[in-house]
Amino acid sequence: MIQTHQSLKQYNTFGIDHSSRYFVKASSAAEIKEALREARRMELPVLVLGGGSNILFTQDFDGMVVKPELLGIELTDRQSDRITVAAGAGVVWDDLVVWCVDRGWGGLENLSHIPGTVGAAPVQNIGAYGAEVGDAIDRVEGIYIDTLEPFVFLAADCAFGYRSSIFKTELKGRILITRVFFSLSAHPQSNTDYGRIEQELQNQPDKSVHSVRQAIIAIRSQKLPDPAKIGNAGSFFKNPVVTESLASQIRADYPQIPLYPADVSGYCKLPAAFLIEKAGWKGVRRGRVGVHTDQPLVLLAYEGAKGQEVLDLSLLICESVQEKFGILLEPEVNIL
Ligand code: EPU
Repeated sequence: MIQTHQSLKQYNTFGIDHSSRYFVKASSAAEIKEALREARRMELPVLVLGGGSNILFTQDFDGMVVKPELLGIELTDRQSDRITVAAGAGVVWDDLVVWCVDRGWGGLENLSHIPGTVGAAPVQNIGAYGAEVGDAIDRVEGIYIDTLEPFVFLAADCAFGYRSSIFKTELKGRILITRVFFSLSAHPQSNTDYGRIEQELQNQPDKSVHSVRQAIIAIRSQKLPDPAKIGNAGSFFKNPVVTESLASQIRADYPQIPLYPADVSGYCKLPAAFLIEKAGWKGVRRGRVGVHTDQPLVLLAYEGAKGQEVLDLSLLICESVQEKFGILLEPEVNIL
């Protein structure tokens, strides 16, 4: 059923109170198509919303928000070590991780506790602790918003990159993902090279996918604020990709800055958290918004904060990082 002037406060993890002119929760392919037809008839822009964990609303949305609630997780294929699992776009991401980990199947455990839905995961190619979802995706199914034609994209055609995919670039705003197929391993080798995973695993009985999940949860909960307690959308900015020569200039002043490999040769990725901290923003609070004390890449919206206040703070941070390091930070969060 189409609702009007629906507050989006409970539908975004910043907890920002803007509304949408029309709002539909669609729990079947038929309901999704009906909503999209209606939007087209009224000539309204459409916003597909997952868990709202990567979006900042700075104004009311004068269009139709469609929230796909297609559920269900199933095993669709098994060939020796490879398992294919399909999940509906509306499945809560971490419920899928639990479902796979409970069966001992590997590939998603490093992505434990990431907020959001299955349908949103491929869009920004969610990643954490040395893993990216694109590496575990077999294919993505959905429909084009304007024609209602179905599509299937194999992983190789999704243009997965660091926090990016074809769904966020070329097809931005033009598609709605309905189902994602994952290719998992029945006999997983755990991926524990990133940061403190190995150290945390010492508190676990073994290196099973279950133990890796527990280690990841422990690390995340020490650093990342729970959106149920305080409004946030995880990392607000992407880690910037810069030339190796700029990175070594910065390293001359800050020898302790870690450098990560980038997708392109001659470039490397720097931790935005480090730059923001050195620009003096760690733990800073300005009225109803602030910068997290343990992970300065995360911006916080306290009760009653406006989206514009978060955006203004992000712009101030960008300015000072640019002034100090000559690097322009790019938001990771979608700003509307
Ligand atoms: N750092 C600081 N000060 C701090 C915290 C971190 O200088 O207070 C520096 C340290 O040098 C640290 C480095 O930042 O080694 C990296 O920190 P962390 O491991 O927390 O990761 P990140 O690069 O800041 C990225 C993702 C996170 C993901 C973590 C773990 C992006 C934009 N963010 O953060 O993803 O959980 O790695 O893999 O790539 C998200 O996308 O919402 C998100 C939380």
